[in-house]
Amino acid sequence: MFQLTSEQEMVRLMARDFAKKELEPYACERDKNETFPADVIRKMGELGLMGMMVPPEYGGSGAGAVSYSLALQEIAYACASTAVTMSVANLSTEPLLRFGNEKQKEKYLIPLAAGEKLGAFAITEPDAGSDPSSMTTRAEEKDDHYLINGRKIFITNGSYADVINLIARTDPQKGNRGLSAFLIEKGMPGFSVGKKEEKMGLRASDTVELVFDDCRVPKENLLGKKGQGFKVAMTALDSGRIGIASQSLGLARACLDEAVNYSQNRRQFGKEISSFQAIQWMIADMATQIEAAYWLVLSAANRKDQGGSFTREASMAKLFASELANRAAYKALQIHGGYGYMAEYKIERLYRDARVTTIYEGTSEVQRIVIAREFLGKG
Ligand code: CAA
Repeated sequence: MFQLTSEQEMVRLMARDFAKKELEPYACERDKNETFPADVIRKMGELGLMGMMVPPEYGGSGAGAVSYSLALQEIAYACASTAVTMSVANLSTEPLLRFGNEKQKEKYLIPLAAGEKLGAFAITEPDAGSDPSSMTTRAEEKDDHYLINGRKIFITNGSYADVINLIARTDPQKGNRGLSAFLIEKGMPGFSVGKKEEKMGLRASDTVELVFDDCRVPKENLLGKKGQGFKVAMTALDSGRIGIASQSLGLARACLDEAVNYSQNRRQFGKEISSFQAIQWMIADMATQIEAAYWLVLSAANRKDQGGSFTREASMAKLFASELANRAAYKALQIHGGYGYMAEYKIERLYRDARVTTIYEGTSEVQRIVIAREFLGKG
């Protein structure tokens, strides 16, 4: 049986304590006002929560993927918006760690992993979501630089990010082998932040459009080899999916606790509704599936820590945990009855926050493609 180390337990308790003090009391207000808590994000950086899978020589805490998942579950339990900010910040260190040269690591990875700077990851376009190989943002090679034109949408952390991992097309003829990864810095000429999205949930996270209009990027900011962009993106998303699975799990736990608490206090037909079998079964199913998801997510994270391939495991964890978060939110709201539909009750926010987990960083349908291919081949 997989046992947490004392260090992993400590990370979990530290994140729980932080979330209780800094996130939980303000989550509702931040959601309502769409406030991005920049000061809290900075504090999380100081605690080592933004570079958890990066070794200390590159500025990270080197805690590993299991600790990362445990911490993220705690953050998401209190505030799912902050959890996605943290997840994408950690994700944005992965391409640098895996594909960056020493100079790039020195300049970009160290401050990102140390939480001094915030990262983002830009792949999605208006006509390239589940199929990133059809992206059209163009990076043309000039003398000593690339000229980038196009736009990216739905970019988490986009307006606050100091460094953005951008995937763009360097060769229009080569499909997914014609994509390359670039490091974009805030303030580069020709780069700007466009429309801010108004979202159904995760309203205290930052989601924006990024615009590239003759943006000049020095050649030394090419990340990995030219043509390797798709691989860089997929590798980053493998890790990202462990993050979203962990966020989903934190959300599902919060839904369960809200359901338990409400059902033990709400009285109908002369007794607490928790005494009805209909409610008990919903709670039993939620708790059982949360336990299953917990082990699936930790198993994927543990595999990453062991250094093996974890593509399939990350997709399974993301698929199962995100679908569970939505089921748990649905059932918990059902238990709340009419009150659950009102903004006054926390479950209303959890329900909205859970919805996107089966969509971003690969829809449930994409996760099933990834999983099925592991068994059946590409067909
Ligand atoms: N790791 C490394 N390499 C990988 C890989 C992985 N996990 N998956 C694929 N590759 C490689 C393949 O080996 C292949 O390499 P070769 O060409 O050398 O053989 C190459 O990439 C192409 O692979 P596929 O043929 O499998 O690619 P595909 O076009 O069929 O796509 C897909 C497969 C799984 C559907 C993929 O496109 C995918 O994951 N789509 C979803 C994209 C996504 O998750 N977007 C979310 C964006 S981020 C976000 O949500 C916002 C946020 O900030 C939260």
